[in-house]
Amino acid sequence: MARRILVTGALGQIGSELVPALRERHGADGVVASDVRAIAAGGGEGPFAHLDCTKLHQIQEVVRRYDVGAIYHLAALLSAVAEDKPQMAWTLNMGGLYRVLEVARQYDCAVFFPSSIGAFGPTTPRDHTPQDTIQRPTTMYGVTKVASELLCDYYALRFGVDTRGLRLPGLISHVTPPGGGTTDYAVEIFYQAIRYRHYACFLRPDTRLDMMYMPDGIRAIIELMDADAGRLRHRNAFNVTAMDFTPEELAAAIRKHIPDFVIDYEVDPVRQAIADSWPRSLDDSAARTEWGWSPTYDLAAMTEDMIDKLGAKLKTTE
Ligand SMILES: NC(=O)c1ccc[n+]([C@@H]2O[C@H](COP(=O)([O-])OP(=O)(O)OC[C@H]3O[C@@H](n4cnc5c(N)ncnc54)[C@H](O)[C@@H]3O)[C@@H](O)[C@H]2O)c1
Repeated sequence: MARRILVTGALGQIGSELVPALRERHGADGVVASDVRAIAAGGGEGPFAHLDCTKLHQIQEVVRRYDVGAIYHLAALLSAVAEDKPQMAWTLNMGGLYRVLEVARQYDCAVFFPSSIGAFGPTTPRDHTPQDTIQRPTTMYGVTKVASELLCDYYALRFGVDTRGLRLPGLISHVTPPGGGTTDYAVEIFYQAIRYRHYACFLRPDTRLDMMYMPDGIRAIIELMDADAGRLRHRNAFNVTAMDFTPEELAAAIRKHIPDFVIDYEVDPVRQAIADSWPRSLDDSAARTEWGWSPTYDLAAMTEDMIDKLGAKLKTTE
């Protein structure tokens, strides 16, 4: 029988959609979801482990108990929360990854690690940001993401651990609300537009950032982990993107479906400063060449699907 997959931080925005997608491929029993939070009663089909990924022995125990062969390590503090709690961000983002890599080394597991556009900084070229370029981020989130990319490279080079990763842009989704990132506005706006026809945005109208619809994000993770290892030169930090837009442009796309939608702006200086230090658009040609990456959803297709799916969900839950 194939060894199981373990997902840390599985109850978050990405994990809540990655786990079902992995279970569809590997069977419910083949994927162990885990989180430091307790799962809601009746939540999820397969095994769930309560796991604090800053505790080495807890990871070791779960990996042994379930015979885990690959760890998708999602647990982390996101950009805005990490700026508010930088010490805790270092402890969780670096401490968690270090322990996951150690256990992967000891038990011969592959590791998926999600880096971010936050791994870039104000001195990085902001348009068509190259795969290999200056990385001097000015946020604690960014510092942990760059260090994590390097640590994953090190474990691959020094110990032969099969580590792989993506620099994900802001992810837009309707299943689980985001956990405190700078691109969260692009999710909140849909909830507010459907419910109230109004949204007060915390970024300036002209703030351009990279984004991706969650189905593309999940597919990118799975395709990278399936890729032929021999072809991966940038194994731990592939730029991937699907679209880039400003709040103003997103509002215009929403207005095509909800014509009376109104956006105004109450700029949060902390999140605006983070956004101003990030790329406006990424060059993802290395991902396209090395493992065939190609996104499906652009701004129009994502907006239509979000309004459709979220509208139906809010109708049944409210
Ligand atoms: N969502 C995005 O737009 C985005 C973009 C780029 C990169 N990423 C990265 O992807 C990963 C997952 O992001 P997300 O959006 O799902 O985050 P999230 O905040 O929605 O979820 C993180 C989960 O980790 C759990 N967690 C916190 N501390 C933990 C601990 N000590 N042990 C185990 N679990 C713990 C939380 O309970 C939460 O369920 C993160 O590394 C994030 O930096 C996300």
